[in-house]
Amino acid sequence: MDRYEIVGGQRLEGEIRVQGAKNSVLPILAATVLTNGRCTIHNCPALSDTALTVQILQTLGCRTDWEQGSITVDSSSLSNQELSETLTGKMRSSIVFLGPLLARCGRVKIAYPGGCRLGPRPIDLHLNGLRQMGAVVQEEQDYLLCHTPSKLQGARITLSFPSVGATENLMMAAVLAQGKTTLCQAAREPEIVDLAVFLNRCGARICGAGSSVIEIEGVTRLGGCEHTVIGDRIAAATYLAAAAITGGQAAVLGADPRNLSSMLMLLQKNGSRVGWEKNRLFLKSEGRFRAFPHIETAPYPGFPTDGLPLFLSLAATAQGNSIFVENIFENRYSSVLGLQKMGVQIHREGRTAVVEGSKELHGADVCAEDLRGGAGLVLAALAARGRSRIEGVHWIERGYEHFCRNLTAMGAKIRKE
Ligand code: UD1
Repeated sequence: MDRYEIVGGQRLEGEIRVQGAKNSVLPILAATVLTNGRCTIHNCPALSDTALTVQILQTLGCRTDWEQGSITVDSSSLSNQELSETLTGKMRSSIVFLGPLLARCGRVKIAYPGGCRLGPRPIDLHLNGLRQMGAVVQEEQDYLLCHTPSKLQGARITLSFPSVGATENLMMAAVLAQGKTTLCQAAREPEIVDLAVFLNRCGARICGAGSSVIEIEGVTRLGGCEHTVIGDRIAAATYLAAAAITGGQAAVLGADPRNLSSMLMLLQKNGSRVGWEKNRLFLKSEGRFRAFPHIETAPYPGFPTDGLPLFLSLAATAQGNSIFVENIFENRYSSVLGLQKMGVQIHREGRTAVVEGSKELHGADVCAEDLRGGAGLVLAALAARGRSRIEGVHWIERGYEHFCRNLTAMGAKIRKE
């Protein structure tokens, strides 16, 4: 198993072009099955989850071509509506194939999805919404079977929570449904907007993506298009945080600052100077590391749950106590044990964690348990005195393209072994 070896204490400085957003590219690739044309998606990050999504498309009978960062999918040859556990078990977001496959084929059999260990991740909102559109859902022990006696019907669906995955699935199902669908209390994440822009380019009629009410007028057919995926806001925040935690400076190209404003504000409060012009973000540490009085995760535009582990590590090096409340996923604190081994005082109770800031992090042998928790450990190791070894690199590399190479370019002493 691969691991990172990091010698901490180097001041990071440099410019990074951020990868395309993982959480955009996966639903957009899944959405290509709704079309009858050729779609070319640019700015696709080279990640294991992207590769797995392409493999799923191939299993479904789509023709794919992946050259550099561009993936072309021709779904006109789609011939299969079944996804086995071998594919879905590795990636939670494989559930985003449910809506598009049902809309395109009228029938889908899909093994329950796996993925990052963030606690139970139910799909009741996805299924209830599809039922409201006329789908018949059979939940078997190992798989789901959905079919539609006739075409999916537009409906007014109110989500009890603005789930990102459910919003995406229902929006995709609705584009080929008969009549109008209104999604109320929809998720507002930038990746939802990106998906809607892609679908509209293919001929869909979606209004209101990015707000909590999305209206979708069903159409009979979608064609192909070219689309460029937005920059990854969590990866952008990670590189800025790497500069901040080491007292350095960084510029990140290709991410829209508006999409990560909640994190930028906190980086500023932590003691860095942050600025932006167009798609170029920059951060300069002012050498002061202030604690965060209260960070609470919330659906977008609130502070993102994916950013929490990054800020836990920043809090560990700050002066004073920081308080975190996680409201989205119960296993979000996977980095706590590793941080404690590095000398951080963290008291955790349920959804809340109190971090006692300390300047004295020391290197340690730790293990990444999930993607963002792993990234948080890398940040802490960059700031710690001495050598750290981080196991579980495959979790981290599910979300970060060329992570080691980028951090090395910024001056980090990091080696994959
Ligand atoms: C997506 C992101 C993930 C991010 C999360 C929250 C992708 C590929 N992943 O995950 O990185 O951390 O949004 O911003 O885009 N829930 C239900 N029933 C459902 C669906 C969700 O109760 O049917 C609950 C979940 O248990 C969780 C909350 O809603 O507590 C948020 O989940 P959701 O927004 O659906 O997250 P994902 O789409 O899985």
